[in-house]
Amino acid sequence: MARVILDQVSKTYPGGVQAVHPVDLNIEHGEFAVLVGPSGCGKSTTLRMIAGLEEATSGTITIGDRVVNDVEPRDRDIAMVFQSYALYPHMSVHDNLAFGLKMRKMPRAEIADRVRQAADFLGISELLERKPRALSGGQRQRVALGRALVRDPAAFLFDEPLSNLDAKMRVQMRTEIARIHHRLGATMIYVTHDQTEAMTLGQRIVVMKDGVVQQVAPPLELYERPVNKFVAGFIGSPAMNFLTGKLVRQDGLVFVLASGGEPLPLPEGFSPPAAALDQELVLGVRPEHIGLAGDFSRAFPAQVQVVEALGNETLLYFTVGEAPVIVRTDGSQLPAIDDELQLTLQPDRIQLFAQSGDGLAIR
Ligand SMILES: Nc1ncnc2c1ncn2[C@@H]1O[C@H](COP(=O)(O)OP(=O)(O)OP(=O)(O)O)[C@@H](O)[C@H]1O
Ligand SMILES: [Mg+2]
Repeated sequence: MARVILDQVSKTYPGGVQAVHPVDLNIEHGEFAVLVGPSGCGKSTTLRMIAGLEEATSGTITIGDRVVNDVEPRDRDIAMVFQSYALYPHMSVHDNLAFGLKMRKMPRAEIADRVRQAADFLGISELLERKPRALSGGQRQRVALGRALVRDPAAFLFDEPLSNLDAKMRVQMRTEIARIHHRLGATMIYVTHDQTEAMTLGQRIVVMKDGVVQQVAPPLELYERPVNKFVAGFIGSPAMNFLTGKLVRQDGLVFVLASGGEPLPLPEGFSPPAAALDQELVLGVRPEHIGLAGDFSRAFPAQVQVVEALGNETLLYFTVGEAPVIVRTDGSQLPAIDDELQLTLQPDRIQLFAQSGDGLAIR
């Protein structure tokens, strides 16, 4: 197993698309790192450069102790699992698992051992004689995982391996991958655009946007201390609520909405940096950090527009000023549409972002 280090690695495709701006990344031995971001942000390109399927335009890529920029993909000692399972359709599951090892001229007995172990581990021993077309999507993806496992590589690379599966199977395979990581302690780099997958799998998450790394941090740090408005809005579901306006000190702090209307009283205990007062900025608060009357101090009224009762929780939709605001509350709360509720904000969970540029967090 091995560290993976990117040092100022960038990619400009022929034709001039700069898919990845120079990125530094230090993925520790045995770490589970997730690259996440919206479509087209350069996740796959980054992963494919590590795999050697794309050449880096600049920078150095190190796997273990070797700079691998000029090393062929098959000699990089990595295994990659894709969204499309890329199984050989005419070969049995057994032969799909064994193929890469045969090509490497591994002794028969060892191949047999490894295939048996991987099949046991993934619960596909009963399927070894079947052809891929006789498998479900989840089973195919298990075989694809097995093909990576038997290789015992220095690092595993995953590119949206679960996105072809239905929601239930996705959750099941997600735990499977977590289990594999726990068992093997292998270095894993996992690409997804699904922030839930990123949050649940990643020990560290790399958030990308437009080919630029925005933040690299463990899941809870991303959730609690996003560096900018993009990360704040990307991590968490439903997304963080954003209101544009100014913090003004009257008798207590209020938020004067850019769209006009009654200023919102802000709760006692909220103490923004002095520099944040009296200037246009964005106030962010997550749906779970807005309380209904009584939770925190200094409420403001808002009218319920939509109620989504999910059983374990209820999502309430409001408009504050002109901005949509979602409140997550417990499943026993079932107000009616058009009810006027009193909203309060959790003082230590209010976040502030610059209105211009990248929307840097103001702390
Ligand atoms: N072979 C290529 N030639 C030119 N441009 C490319 C090529 N492959 C990708 N791109 C461009 O590079 C950018 C990054 O693409 P990439 O596939 O890395 O994104 P991604 O984050 O994996 O997106 P998705 O979530 O949709 O898979 C995009 O603008 C894409 O159009
Ligand atoms: Mg991709």
